[in-house]
Amino acid sequence: MALNLPARVRIIDVGPRDGLQNEKTPVPADVKIGLVQRLQDAGLQEIEVTSYVSPKWVPQMADNHAVMQGMARRAGVRYSVLTPNLQGFQAALQDTPDEIVVFGAASEAFSQKNINCSIAESIERFAPVVEAALAAGIAVRAAMSCTVGCPYEGEIAPERVAYLAGLLKQIGVQRVDVADTIGVGTPRKIQAAMEATLQHYPIDAISGHFHDTYGQALSNTLAALELGVWNFQSSVAGLGGCPYAKGATGNVATEDMVYMLHGMGIETGIDLDKLIDAGAYISDFLGRKPHSRAAMAILNKRAG
Ligand code: HMG
Ligand code: MG
Repeated sequence: MALNLPARVRIIDVGPRDGLQNEKTPVPADVKIGLVQRLQDAGLQEIEVTSYVSPKWVPQMADNHAVMQGMARRAGVRYSVLTPNLQGFQAALQDTPDEIVVFGAASEAFSQKNINCSIAESIERFAPVVEAALAAGIAVRAAMSCTVGCPYEGEIAPERVAYLAGLLKQIGVQRVDVADTIGVGTPRKIQAAMEATLQHYPIDAISGHFHDTYGQALSNTLAALELGVWNFQSSVAGLGGCPYAKGATGNVATEDMVYMLHGMGIETGIDLDKLIDAGAYISDFLGRKPHSRAAMAILNKRAG
């Protein structure tokens, strides 16, 4: 094993949020609760549960209160939620999340399409949310979308990522996700986006959020690990996509990520077998197979 890789990786499973926000089949709150339950049973210590956004924009997340209030929380697990503005934050407060996530973009066009404002305006909207969250003792993360490519603007230069990371740092955001929203990144480009972020955030405060549209997400994960990044987001069964990034498929499957990391001797605290069960549970509900090669291989082995 290469010497400089992290010995441990912390994964945030974003399946209940990033995954299920993009499903055409309505997923009832109790199934979402069942998924969160199975993820925590599998040893996930961080779960991105839902978002507090306009139900006209993303009807799939309109049941945020029911999901947050219906799940049986486990001590030591961090439950995070997306809040794009004060209205969303105030709604989220009723459900006592451990961490809130504001979400901006390195691309102007994507910012407009996703949250209906410019990058500069988004920072103005986020600032009071960050301040209120920190005052309430709630941790604050930010997602940075389109850090290598944008569905509307094409390739995004690392300088744009550094610019956004700098603005987020100034308003007090504690840690950031470097997101490849449409999964177009390749290892060197991902490293450039990570290095741009490192101008403003320490390595421990940076996570990788890679959609797997072009099949690059695991390679990109390895490229980020080589830089020392040890926080990643992934989605059980490879669920997901962003409704405002047409054609983008789900995040890298948590099962594939865990299989790779364990195979490299990197600890995650996750029980792969139980994780496979969580992915099978939601995939059965959705009437399809998990979008995870590792999950399929293990399920086939179990069956045969
Ligand atoms: P807006 O239209 O600019 O907001 O939307 P507004 O303040 O002008 O309000 C308009 C209406 O929205 C009003 O309702 C508000 O009450 C309502 P009306 O009077 O018309 O009935 N509203 C809200 N309702 C519920 N919760 C709120 C809220 N705010 C306003 N928080 C807004 C701005 C951000 C709300 C809107 O653009 C929106 O909801 N966008 C959805 C964005 C979204 O959820 N995208 C997917 C998640 S991001 C993602 O997936 C990327 C990520 O995974 C990283 C990556 O992969 O890149 C994180
Ligand atoms: Mg995403």
